[in-house]
Order: sequence, then structure tokens, then C-alpha cells
Amino acid sequence: MTFPTLSLPTGCILRRALSNDIWSIRWLVLSAKLDPTQLLWQQFWVIECEGKLVACGQLRNFSGAQELGSLVVAPNWRGRGLGSFLTQHLIRMATQPLYLECLGQQLADFYIHFGFVPISFENIPSSLKHKFRFSDLGKKLLGVPVVFMEYRAGS
Ligand SMILES: CC(C)(COP(=O)(O)OP(=O)(O)OC[C@H]1O[C@@H](n2cnc3c(N)ncnc32)[C@H](O)[C@@H]1OP(=O)(O)O)[C@@H](O)C(=O)NCCC(=O)NCCS
Repeated sequence: MTFPTLSLPTGCILRRALSNDIWSIRWLVLSAKLDPTQLLWQQFWVIECEGKLVACGQLRNFSGAQELGSLVVAPNWRGRGLGSFLTQHLIRMATQPLYLECLGQQLADFYIHFGFVPISFENIPSSLKHKFRFSDLGKKLLGVPVVFMEYRAGS
């Protein structure tokens, strides 16, 4: 998929995470109430603005698949394109079929914009099903609006 060229606001840079970024990453992820497990700094990319870490996202590795996860932009930096920039970058960095789970149609629409399509739990690779099973149970038993998605380059 060809993306429109996005740019970061002046004073912001995208870089790989360093070991001492882990506390800022944990803080961003916990504040956004996202899955706090498997936060390996080595898998993260971050955006730093004015010397402060304000956004993060990672590619979790599974057998034959990757998950785009932990995408967070600090509340006071949202709506300026940082989330889109990071999403496009993570898609470009992925080396395996790419999946994600998100909550609600609004977020699903955000990812559809970049070439992700909703898929059923049954179509998720088995290595990832293990991780997504709990969400699928919540969806089926409690009606939690989880959407599983796969990146399709041509869509
Ligand atoms: C989702 C998130 C990363 C987007 O980051 P962002 O930097 O604000 O995104 P952008 O500025 O690139 O916005 C891109 C578009 O997505 C939309 N958007 C932003 N946040 C959204 C949200 N929470 N849900 C749905 N759409 C959202 C914006 O309206 C914008 O659309 P527009 O360009 O047509 O106006 C950010 O809102 C966030 O950190 N949310 C909390 C954590 C979260 O839910 N992460 C996703 C886990 S699956």
C-alpha cells in the first residue's frame, strides 16, 4: 500500500526505543489502559517531542506473525498525526504477516485507513490465537467490542 507522505511536527523525532525508555513506555501504556504485558523495549519505536517521550508503539513477535501493539500517543499530543506516523512506520517495519486487536469501531476505522481489515478470530494464526483468546471470550460472552484485524498490503 502506498501511503501519503506524513511528517512529524517540528521538534519531534521518531527513533527506536532505548532501555531507559521503558518507564515512559510503561506509563503511556498503563495510562491508556492497554495490555501491560510483553512490553519489551527492544520491540518499541517511540516519538520524542521537545525532549519528552510522547508516543510509542511496538511489533510483538510470534511464530510466523507479528502484532502491532501498545500504540499510544500522550493525550496532549493527540490529533497532530503522531499516531498515524507511527502506525505507518510500524507497518513498514513489519517482516511477518501483521495483526492487531482494538476496541470499538472508531479505532477499527483508524486502522482500516492504513490497510487493515477486520477478520474473524478463526482466521488468526495459531501462534497469536493464544494471546487473543481472552479478548475473544470477552467478545463472545460479554459483548466487548473487540475487533481483530489483519494488514492487507493491497487493500
Ligand atoms: C489512537 C491514537 C494512538 C491516535 O493517535 P493520534 O496521534 O491522535 O492520531 P492522529 O493524530 O494521527 O489521528 C488520525 C486520525 O485518527 C482519529 N483518531 C484519533 N484518535 C482516535 C481514537 N481514539 N479512536 C478513533 N479515532 C481516532 C483522528 O480523528 C484522526 O482522524 P482525522 O485525521 O480524519 O481527523 C491515540 O488516540 C491514543 O493514544 N489513544 C489511546 C490508546 C489507544 O486506544 N491506542 C490504540 C490501541 S489499539
